[in-house]
Amino acid sequence: MHVNGQPCRTIWFDAAQDCVKVIDQTRLPHHFEIAALRTLDDACHAIVSMQIRGAPLIGVTAAFGVALALREGADELDAVCARLLKTRPTAVNLRWALDRVRSHLEPLAFAARAEAALALAQTLAEEDALACSAIGDHGLQLLKEIWTAKRVANPAAPCLNVLTHCNAGWLATVDWGTALAPLYKAHAHGIPLHVWVDETRPRNQGAFLTAWELQQEGIPHTVIVDNAGGHLMQHGEVDLCIVGSDRTTAAGDVCNKIGTYLKALAAHDNGIPFFVALPVSTIDFSLQDGVREIPIEQRHGSEVSHMQGLNTEGVLSRVQVMASHSAVNNYGFDVTPARLVTALITEHGVFGADAVSLQTLRAQLGR
Ligand code: MRU
Repeated sequence: MHVNGQPCRTIWFDAAQDCVKVIDQTRLPHHFEIAALRTLDDACHAIVSMQIRGAPLIGVTAAFGVALALREGADELDAVCARLLKTRPTAVNLRWALDRVRSHLEPLAFAARAEAALALAQTLAEEDALACSAIGDHGLQLLKEIWTAKRVANPAAPCLNVLTHCNAGWLATVDWGTALAPLYKAHAHGIPLHVWVDETRPRNQGAFLTAWELQQEGIPHTVIVDNAGGHLMQHGEVDLCIVGSDRTTAAGDVCNKIGTYLKALAAHDNGIPFFVALPVSTIDFSLQDGVREIPIEQRHGSEVSHMQGLNTEGVLSRVQVMASHSAVNNYGFDVTPARLVTALITEHGVFGADAVSLQTLRAQLGR
């Protein structure tokens, strides 16, 4: 997608400087900065500190992390993968990417591995961008149908109102995004959109990242507090919800940023379609019951007690937003049961959020 009108991706290999480059997402939306990753430590730090984040991008960064480790001379592939695997627990794309890297490298002679790892990381990045573009194409068909139905019911309707949570845009992937890809395609297709952007406390991925992305693409949007969605839905201000996924079970349960479940409940209560957009690398076919089985990341309490933003001098700074000494809890994700999900939009088409539909997809994938 674009930054100041120029095409940009979230991660790439810079051959001239012989390092991996990423957009440092901890600095957005106030500063657009590129960070260089040269070592395995740099890659792990980028994932843990959330310089890069979002399930697909975490997986691709881990693949580059293996390449960087091998270039440094690491000879224990298992140890390198184990270290990367520990960086964030919920997004299954991390394990998926590392499994792919391992099975690609293991048969190779040690001397050939570093170069092969770098080539594979670049392939995974390319595949991710293509998958997200295809998600956009499939989602576009759904948006066209919903927009046509809205215009038939009300020819004066000005736009399609979409609600999204967290950031499942191009910043969460290599390019295009998952939940936002259909919106970018719909915008290009001439469907008038307005996006309600949940701020997504505690890290504000909605207010900081999604709003910035939509701004860069010229899509009308409004940032709302996380508790506003239900009210807007009750008043006919939301035509559909669309979110991403960090892990989807074989039964169609979806794990995504904390608060997604409450949006799905409100959408269900108000008869509003609730779509989840995901590459198939996000599906964990080994799990059935998301609530019981998906590991939920707990992050540091300082993300709840403090907030980052520009101070009155325009300097990026942190402030404490709650009383000192109170206990805090910071679960990063929650699980939306399949029964609340209208459909799953993948790069292979649109599937029901149920075991039978996902079994069909699995057979198609040969996994
Ligand atoms: O903690 P984050 O910012 O990595 O969480 C990201 C999300 O929850 C996204 O919605 C999810 O990864 C899907 S991304 C395409």
